[in-house]
Amino acid sequence: MPATVVVGAQWGDEGKGRVTDLFARDADYVVRYQGGNNAGHTIVVGSERFALSLVPSGVMYTGTVPVIASGVVIDPQVLLEEIGMLEERGVDPSRLRISANAHLIMPYHRKLDTVIERYLGRNRIGTTKRGIGPAYTDKYARTGIRVQDLFDPAIFVDKLEAVLAEKNKILTRVYNQLPMDAGRIAEEYLVYAERLLPMVEETSRLIWDALAEGRTVLFEGAQGTLLDIDHGTYPFVTSSNPSAGGAAIGAGVGPKVLDRVVGVAKAYISRVGSGPFPTELSDETGDRMIEIGGEYGTVTGRRRRCGWLDLVALRYACRVNSLTELFITKLDVLSGFDKIKAATSYTSLGETYTEFPRQQRVLYNCAPIYSEMTGWEEDLSETRRFGDLPPAARRYIEFIEDQAGVPVGWVSVGPEREQVVTR
Ligand code: GDP
Ligand code: IMO
Ligand code: MG
Repeated sequence: MPATVVVGAQWGDEGKGRVTDLFARDADYVVRYQGGNNAGHTIVVGSERFALSLVPSGVMYTGTVPVIASGVVIDPQVLLEEIGMLEERGVDPSRLRISANAHLIMPYHRKLDTVIERYLGRNRIGTTKRGIGPAYTDKYARTGIRVQDLFDPAIFVDKLEAVLAEKNKILTRVYNQLPMDAGRIAEEYLVYAERLLPMVEETSRLIWDALAEGRTVLFEGAQGTLLDIDHGTYPFVTSSNPSAGGAAIGAGVGPKVLDRVVGVAKAYISRVGSGPFPTELSDETGDRMIEIGGEYGTVTGRRRRCGWLDLVALRYACRVNSLTELFITKLDVLSGFDKIKAATSYTSLGETYTEFPRQQRVLYNCAPIYSEMTGWEEDLSETRRFGDLPPAARRYIEFIEDQAGVPVGWVSVGPEREQVVTR
């Protein structure tokens, strides 16, 4: 199938990077369609571990063209650093194509992200402080600066001065910060322009042509469905559309071209930052998931909140993304737990919910109702065939599949490329 979307089915960090890297072996193009360097996608190749935030996970293969589409917000300094890191480590990023329409993260976006969070106090989102929210805010306010603006210094400076006049008032008068200097920002950004220019392209057209030629295009989501600005646990979300529909908008293709939508979910669940989390475990079991699963942020190093798999949320993700298959990651982490639990419904304010509640008040009061299964002791890291998994692990996967109503096509049992059970 030529066009496949890889989408996070939880609150991010499901293992999208490793899944994309695995699928990219057979792909001609890998397209990032939203988010920015709030993403941290880990790829393990042999003894090497790569953490990517902007460059699509297809970059590892010389036959694959990585594309950053217009739905992404780009911090040029971070992007160039990432390109430099890849070059240093022997990965050739020169095929990278960047949309001229993608918006830029500017220094005042990063500053605002930090001071707004501070201002929110206990109501803070727990953002990555990378300037993502403020950059998307400007995009929708139509005061954003795009990649293409870098190539006309006069226009760039014009737009920058206009927007900075307002931002400086906000920074100084509302947040008691020092103003920023347009000249200095322009100087810095116009240097980036020279280095980015050779990679800039009309990426929507590039993808269209690729699909017309029957090439294989993989769309790599960042974050996850429950962090989607429209369909997630608002306001504790990111400022873009990680869900599958975002692939069409963010890449500039029609929804009809998307053939497969693969949802990635961990065998348990995690969340970074604030917000409701019905199956969160604040006990030894949760600590064990964090330690065994290595649940610390790829970008920020923050300890992730962990809990049992939430099948109510997973069913919701299957629906809003029209998932065609599920990829379950990190099953190996659950080895040695004598009981495995998974939430199949919630109770909240005296009612039972089998569908993910869309009202914040209901969600905040949700207590999970669990199905409990016996666990397994065996180490799964060397298992490659579904039939070779311990019976309890197989039953768990079949239970997920049954509850989700979507087939589980793959199960991963370790972070490395080969550590995958394909069904
Ligand atoms: P992403 O943001 O969705 O790409 O996920 P992250 O890379 O932020 O987090 C997933 C983490 O789990 C990374 O450290 C991966 O190397 C690791 N990982 C992915 N799949 C597996 C797996 O099947 N087993 C184990 N133990 N680790 C995995
Ligand atoms: P990947 O692609 C997990 C979370 C932040 C915060 C909220 C808003 O690696 O799965 P933002 O900086 O986007 O404005 O923060 O979203 N968040 C993520 N959590 N994985 C991510 O990306 C995330 N990107 C943002 O922790 O709660
Ligand atoms: Mg991540």
